[in-house]
Amino acid sequence: MLTTRFTELVGCTAPIQQAGMGSLSNPRLAAAVAGAGGLGMISIYGVDPETIADIFEQLPRSVPGAYGANIIPLFVEPDQMRATIEASAAQARIVEFFYSDPDPELIDIVHARGALACWQVGSLEEAVAAEKAGCDLIVAQGIEAGGHVRGRISLLALLGEVLDVVKVPVLAAGGIGSGRALAAVLAAGADGARVGTRFVASEEAEAHPTYVQGLIAANAEDTVYSEAFHVGWEDAPHRTLRSAVEAAGVFQGDIVGEGSSIYTGERYPVERFGSTAAHKGMTGAIEAMSLWAGESVSGVKRVQPAAEIVEELAREAEALLRRW
Ligand SMILES: Cc1cc2nc3c(=O)[nH]c(=O)nc-3n(C[C@H](O)[C@H](O)[C@H](O)COP(=O)(O)O)c2cc1C
Repeated sequence: MLTTRFTELVGCTAPIQQAGMGSLSNPRLAAAVAGAGGLGMISIYGVDPETIADIFEQLPRSVPGAYGANIIPLFVEPDQMRATIEASAAQARIVEFFYSDPDPELIDIVHARGALACWQVGSLEEAVAAEKAGCDLIVAQGIEAGGHVRGRISLLALLGEVLDVVKVPVLAAGGIGSGRALAAVLAAGADGARVGTRFVASEEAEAHPTYVQGLIAANAEDTVYSEAFHVGWEDAPHRTLRSAVEAAGVFQGDIVGEGSSIYTGERYPVERFGSTAAHKGMTGAIEAMSLWAGESVSGVKRVQPAAEIVEELAREAEALLRRW
């Protein structure tokens, strides 16, 4: 059993957090991760505050893990922010934020409702700001990460800087797709890992099958850090499969396909270089859509149940750490 300050604080049995992944994650995925002892995350954007309790009520409560809510403040209407955070904190053990500067006011709202507050950061400066703002834990994201990337340097270099300075537990994110990588960040002093890409290829996730096949076929060198998929989210570097950037680059036309909202079923056109991930509800040139992938993609060998991914990572890391 890998017990860390993170597992004790959050009430998990595995030091693994599933990344909230927008339209690719769902309550089934969070439940499977928490059922295996990890921290299962629900993405709270595109969700109105009244619906948040309904989503969390679908989750089994007697689990060895815990649940959290992931919020990207950029995508929450300012007049809905307080209600969104309050509704999330009333349901989840932890409420976390990504892609804006750490904000003590938002953290105070989380604490007032009795939840823990977390911020995913990409630099030492941002980590210090998150701790100062009152976060109970921090996620340090390296440039290896899939999806939108706040980190500008590699994960081990960032951990080296952050762990020397920050006192609260730190999770490592970016490129962790194997028990070896999990063992490495735990040995370096992190209290756990946040994992995204591996869970995109889980049975429970909403990723389109063509996207998942692309992940299975890819290795780390098949990913690229760019700003290519900028429509809908500008000035936000990200890591995807290189093949997606190339396919979108040669695609003729402005619309690559059609999608439907996982919550409302409403259909919408998918623009070329659009930033919405290719989920099961999409049709068209899937290969030219944003196919987010971290360097952890080397660890994606097949579609697996999410619980198996948690158990495999934890078991392999524990075996490696026991050698010392
Ligand atoms: C498909 C996908 C969607 C993501 N969406 C979000 C998100 O909505 N919120 C967030 O905080 N991070 C998001 N991330 C980034 C993760 O939090 C995390 O930093 C990253 O997945 C870690 O790298 P890895 O993919 O190599 O495991 C996403 C990552 C992926 C792969």
